[in-house]
Amino acid sequence: MKAAWYERKGPAREVLQLGERPDPAPAPGELLVRVRASGINPSDWKARAGWLGRDQMPFPLIIPHQDGAGEVVAAGSPELEHRVGERVWFYEAALGRPFGGAAEYVALPERQVQPLPDSVSFEEGASLGVPAMTAHRCVFADGPVTGKVVLVTGGAGAVGRYAIQFAKQGGARVIATVSREEQARSAKAAGADLVLNRLTDDLVAGIRAFVGTERGVHRIVDVAFGANLDVTMQMLAPRGVVATYASDAIPDPAVPFWPLITLDATIRFVLVYVMDETAHDAAAAAIGEGLRQGWLSHEVAARFPLERIAEAHELLEGGRLVGKVVVTI
Ligand SMILES: NC(=O)c1ccc[n+]([C@@H]2O[C@H](COP(=O)([O-])OP(=O)(O)OC[C@H]3O[C@@H](n4cnc5c(N)ncnc54)[C@H](OP(=O)(O)O)[C@@H]3O)[C@@H](O)[C@H]2O)c1
Repeated sequence: MKAAWYERKGPAREVLQLGERPDPAPAPGELLVRVRASGINPSDWKARAGWLGRDQMPFPLIIPHQDGAGEVVAAGSPELEHRVGERVWFYEAALGRPFGGAAEYVALPERQVQPLPDSVSFEEGASLGVPAMTAHRCVFADGPVTGKVVLVTGGAGAVGRYAIQFAKQGGARVIATVSREEQARSAKAAGADLVLNRLTDDLVAGIRAFVGTERGVHRIVDVAFGANLDVTMQMLAPRGVVATYASDAIPDPAVPFWPLITLDATIRFVLVYVMDETAHDAAAAAIGEGLRQGWLSHEVAARFPLERIAEAHELLEGGRLVGKVVVTI
């Protein structure tokens, strides 16, 4: 099969190779997917680049990418034969395994292979996995959000945009922060009730005016825990939850213990790759419902053929896109 891979970590252009690899065979309990599109996540390029000094190869040869979409072409067990021919999206293809979605074929445990309705393109389906599951967990891990105020920082990011949609669907009033006009457009299209520019707006004043109280934000889905902590501490309601999934700018923030305990606050750390099966299944079910009912929308910013995977990685690493980068195969 056609595939992209790396055998050492480093810059995309230096380590990503293209060529032919043996076709995988599905083991019992697995499905073989003919991949049509594969979405790239920050964790894919971070793993390939050896981010934060993680330059050891967990396997001698790695086909990157956790997420993708395509068609089931074979089953590893007779009881899974009924799924052959199904359009699907899949998640965490490369988690603890060497061969991910940047190839013509990938073999995966059945539960990681979810139905994709005809109305959703393969590129859109390839955008779901890691970001949509992370978003679902951040929004709902601490219970329903009906009638609550949810703040989604970085509301035009891949995770943030899905978080807005889950929170709205869950009955919350949703505030999103962005830093550019095109991001504001995307966050509004996702359903945010209030969109504020984190660089030019007075966030504290804007949020207080929207919620009508000093501390009215019940839940924060946070892409930048350390960088946003100051605003968080001014907004968070008593018994509020900060569900955070990244803190790239300030990885070792000083946590203000007494102000947080005074609020009886919860700081929830979400790492999709460590979520238990129940959380994964709940997220997959909610995503499936959103796809079938048509309320889950996607933002695909750029498409590259597999042959240009290095460019695709570089574009995502640049961090200026609004939406997902997808390779087509
Ligand atoms: N824990 C997990 O399970 C998990 C899952 C998925 C992703 N992640 C991590 O989460 C991060 C985002 O992933 P993604 O796929 O959503 O990336 P993305 O599509 O590039 O989105 C990141 C968003 O964060 C915004 N942002 C950056 N700093 C911000 C700040 N201080 N306040 C508000 N917004 C800010 C960016 O906007 P600007 O243009 O304004 O900077 C951008 O819209 C990455 O570090 C990724 O590795 C973690």
